[in-house]
Amino acid sequence: MTQRISPAGRLRGCLRLPGDKSISHRYALLAAIAEGPSRIRNYASGADCQSTLGCLRALGVPVEQQDSEVLIRGGGLDGLREPAETLDAGNSGSTMRMLAGILAGQAFTSRMSGDESLSRRPMDRIMRPLQAMGASIQARDGRYPPLAIRGARLGAIEYDLPVASAQVKTCVLLAGLYAEGVTRVREPVRTRDHTEIALREFGAEVEAQNRVIAVRGRPRLLGRDLTAPGDLSTAAFFLAAALLLLDSSLIIQNVGLNPTRSALLDFLVSMGADIRIPRLAEQAGELAGDLEVRSSRVRGGVIEKELTAALIDEIPVLAVLGAASQEGLVVRDAAELRIKETDRIATLAENLRRMGVTIEVAPDGFRVPGRQSFRAAELDSFGDHRIAMACAVAALVADGESTIADAGAAAVSFPGFFQTLAEVRE
Ligand code: S3P
Repeated sequence: MTQRISPAGRLRGCLRLPGDKSISHRYALLAAIAEGPSRIRNYASGADCQSTLGCLRALGVPVEQQDSEVLIRGGGLDGLREPAETLDAGNSGSTMRMLAGILAGQAFTSRMSGDESLSRRPMDRIMRPLQAMGASIQARDGRYPPLAIRGARLGAIEYDLPVASAQVKTCVLLAGLYAEGVTRVREPVRTRDHTEIALREFGAEVEAQNRVIAVRGRPRLLGRDLTAPGDLSTAAFFLAAALLLLDSSLIIQNVGLNPTRSALLDFLVSMGADIRIPRLAEQAGELAGDLEVRSSRVRGGVIEKELTAALIDEIPVLAVLGAASQEGLVVRDAAELRIKETDRIATLAENLRRMGVTIEVAPDGFRVPGRQSFRAAELDSFGDHRIAMACAVAALVADGESTIADAGAAAVSFPGFFQTLAEVRE
């Protein structure tokens, strides 16, 4: 689908977003291996979280869904059934990497594959720790999907994560549920801690201290009723657009504001963004609140070191904001961007250049000078949801109508993105 986007005057109104993608995956996975029914409200509507539900169904877990509410009847740690077919993780790295942790502890072999993009993403980062725990895993060229995972009786390990990755951390902690004793994971920098929070909610024993997370194996997990807060990484596109378009004023209700995710807000505010949080509450260990954003003159800034890991999913749209900011944006230490759904440094640079925006690219980052304007252009998501939505934000501030090829990719995290944007633009 090619989407046309004309320049907007401003954003106005109040909106609610689908449930957080990261939290939805974790709730579904844990519900599947907990005992008894779990109800998940505001479950993420994107294709990625549907891939997780599809895999769970193929593993014999009863899953019912009505609109954004999902009912999962878990059969306990050993309640999964050997799948008849290859599990399909679609475009979802989270599904493949996190579910692999659970599959490693099963008494059967499973195969898991994904789409073309996922088939190019490295899985050796999860294979190494799972093999050290006793599972046997085969991959194409020793590294890429499809995977064949032969489960085993796992042994607990102490694992130093070589990359800052919440997906890999989660994979090891989920495998740790099946191991005898305590599994420990040490992170190089702190990453999103939704897994630790959700594990506790379902009844596991988890301790986290100084970037070391420990989980005790063979817990009794019990089904829960939970609500996923709105996705802050999706809110980022609306925040950026509202900041850029003069005279905008937007309220986004009930957004997840977990401190390991909300570096985005601190970063934007430090650059001069007018963002307020009129309401903040805790639900099932996760913070959530309303965001109020008004158009602002944004200074620009530098994203490097731990901040890069904390903002990794928001960098595409921050690049757009950076080009229009006073001083521009520099991103360093971001080699991980090259192995996301696309090589996001390359796909971002290609689209910005089509709009006449200058960007200097490095192997692990880029620099966009500030005070640039955007020329209307033919843009391309290259099949990447966050590139599709970042292009849409750039198109809103361009000098004429732009098009985005393969804009349907946005459905990977937010099928209603263009509709919602149309509702709040004036
Ligand atoms: C995620 C972790 C991040 C992020 C992805 C979701 C998660 O990936 O980019 O969108 O839910 O744990 P990495 O673990 O590869 O950094």
